[in-house]
Amino acid sequence: MMKLNWSDVTPHKIFLDRRKFMAAGAAAVALPALAGRVQAQGMTGRPSPLSTDQTPNTFEEITNYNNFYEFGTGKEDPARNAAALTTDPWSVEITGLVDRPGSYGVEDLAPDNALEERIYRLRCVEAWSMVVPWIGVPLASVLAKVGVQPSAKFVEFETLVRPEEMVGQQRAILDWPYREGLRLDEAMNPLTILATGLYDQPMPNQNGAPIRLVVPWKYGFKSIKSIVRINLLEQEPVNTWKQLQASEYGFYANVNPQVDHPRWSQATHRVIGSGLFGGREETQMFNGYGDQVASLYAGMDLSVNY
Ligand code: MTE
Repeated sequence: MMKLNWSDVTPHKIFLDRRKFMAAGAAAVALPALAGRVQAQGMTGRPSPLSTDQTPNTFEEITNYNNFYEFGTGKEDPARNAAALTTDPWSVEITGLVDRPGSYGVEDLAPDNALEERIYRLRCVEAWSMVVPWIGVPLASVLAKVGVQPSAKFVEFETLVRPEEMVGQQRAILDWPYREGLRLDEAMNPLTILATGLYDQPMPNQNGAPIRLVVPWKYGFKSIKSIVRINLLEQEPVNTWKQLQASEYGFYANVNPQVDHPRWSQATHRVIGSGLFGGREETQMFNGYGDQVASLYAGMDLSVNY
């Protein structure tokens, strides 16, 4: 039998061509389950000039090597356990210093006709990286909808707490709910998105369904998954990893090869998908997004504000 594998997928163009091909001939090559998944979903996002032209990781890599402690601390635990999460219905409470606080559906925040494709590098604080073709909307468009009041200076995000479905939450590995935050200007930067899909499919549970943050110039832990609350406030909010160990994880968490983690170097990282022994790369300041974001930190000492 002919074997088609998600790991065969390379650039997005090929992915789209494959989709057409599979739509035409999937039954003939006897892959109904995979073909069904591809045909049934069909989320699309407009291409964006903010996307990298680097080749994305495969769907298999992106959905089988995850950090999502609500489902366990192992890299394969989220893929194994996250199917238990009910993601529909879902609502996001938007609270605090906004003109139109309330409970919003995912569809209200990220309507189909507003979706964009953003192919971004993702650099984890643990010194590995991937390239992910996200589908989503600028966070700025969501904030415009709810009307941010002038006194707001920060945005706080919270993940769902539901230990009966999120097995990792049955233990106090972290102080649940997982929390993150951004300065308002970081939140408004065009690179910052709320993602609801990847590779033209609704967000897989292990990647943070149904809606998660993506901030590509910061370490991955800032990109909080499965968001149920967005709160606008005046003071810098608490973020989970800083709360756990402030000497190792800060509020800013900008990717910075010059500021090492106390227990490892941040100068290079392992490229996921390039084999066990190959594939180290030099880490770029702001994960290579300095042109778009360096000005946000003008005059700040980034070794203090790590
Ligand atoms: N969000 C929640 N709620 N819980 C988590 O454990 N892990 C973070 C971030 N968002 C995490 C989270 C970390 S450390 C990383 S590197 C990214 O999610 C990983 O995203 P990915 O699994 O989609 O690659």
